[in-house]
Amino acid sequence: MKLTLILAAAVAATLATPVLADGKALYMEKTCIACHGKDAKKPLTPDYPKLAGQNAKYAEKQMQDIKSGARANGNAAAMKGVMHLVSDAEIKELAKYLSEIK
Ligand code: HEC
Repeated sequence: MKLTLILAAAVAATLATPVLADGKALYMEKTCIACHGKDAKKPLTPDYPKLAGQNAKYAEKQMQDIKSGARANGNAAAMKGVMHLVSDAEIKELAKYLSEIK
């Protein structure tokens, strides 16, 4: 039983290029951290938003709109350049992660 669990963990680790990484990992990997800072609390400049604790639905919509170009106000252009890196499902995961940061 124990061995089965260890084997399962090993297999999971080997397959570690997940189709859907968790939000925190995505936040690091997809360069979000570069502009929005550690734990989404310390943006690169005071002009950039703090995202920690933001409503998930709102954050998801904003990301979709910045990606599509529907939101192009303010400094949105700075972020648009990286949005090709994230899929709709990843955006959802990221929004959930942001909303859960205390
Ligand atoms: C190159 C810098 C940059 C990168 C990289 C970046 N963003 Fe942004 N992001 C911005 C800026 C600037 C804004 C605010 C745009 C504006 O002024 O309207 C923003 C806005 C947002 C918003 C909307 C905030 C609100 O309150 O309306 C969310 C959510 C967000 N970013 C999430 C992310 C996520 C998740 C990633 C990684 C996939 C990411 N950003 C990558 C610069 C960046």
